Amino acid sequence: MPEADFSTKEKQYHADVPQKNAPFTLKGAGSYDWGMKNRLARTFDPRSGRTVMLAVDHGYFQGPTTGLERIDLTIVPLIPSCDALFCTRGILRALVPPQVQKPMVLRASGGPSILRDLSDEEIAMDMEDALRLNACGVGVQVFVGSEHESRTVRNMTRLVDLGVRHGMPVMAVTAVGKEMKRDAQYFRLACRMCAELGATYVKTYFVEEEFETVTASCPVPIVMAGGKKMPELDALKMAYGAIQGGAAGVDMGRNIFQSDAPSAMIQAVRAVVHKNETPERALDLYKTLKAKLDKKKDR
Ligand code: 5RP
Repeated sequence: MPEADFSTKEKQYHADVPQKNAPFTLKGAGSYDWGMKNRLARTFDPRSGRTVMLAVDHGYFQGPTTGLERIDLTIVPLIPSCDALFCTRGILRALVPPQVQKPMVLRASGGPSILRDLSDEEIAMDMEDALRLNACGVGVQVFVGSEHESRTVRNMTRLVDLGVRHGMPVMAVTAVGKEMKRDAQYFRLACRMCAELGATYVKTYFVEEEFETVTASCPVPIVMAGGKKMPELDALKMAYGAIQGGAAGVDMGRNIFQSDAPSAMIQAVRAVVHKNETPERALDLYKTLKAKLDKKKDR
């Protein structure tokens, strides 16, 4: 006997209205379960299908990088402006207020410092801890072509197995050794390998020539890696090239937090990523916002 229903209202079954099955349009992600899709939808804004991730994980191999000496003072105020923060669990626990609503993607590989061979990485975090921390993804470095290629690929596939089991997206980061050529041919290989072996999305570098072949031949979303600090206009041009070349967003660090006005720069990057703004117009936005900040400082 079902629970008595005392409502006097007539039941509304809408038998003539077919139930909507909303498609999940993020590239390559249609077959995942709800938890994985929900984490992805929190990371990639469903309105644009894109993301502006702020990368601040550098300390895991290079210590207190310029701009990250005091993450509580320089980065925490920027969190509302990003779509997701890419950081380590150490920084998350110690410095990121648990009240933040933004998704956290956690660095899950590590080991060597800048003093050693960077490709010599291991998995550096349990999936259980990522779940405990309510992460929306984990990131792992894959060094295709390096001495430790196989181990770093295995690090990724191990995390992918655990990620699929628990609904946790895995971002593969295609790291390039100093001696390697950064061209489309290399990135086509590295990105495709990561995707074939299960990465949910791939972080990779922009190349001027044929970047669209890297994104087209990768069956999962690509987010553009930032790299060394460059003039703001150049960084915006790079982000624009990547987005127009098929990237689903960016995961930028130094070009945002080492800018003279990080909060203005992240807004300019957002304009390029979410609004297809040209680099020149985004630079105007950067300058306007920076001028306002400078004025405030002078008061
Ligand atoms: C290296 C990384 C870094 O740890 C970091 O995220 C790089 O950010 P950026 O180059 O934009 O400063 O992922 O591959």
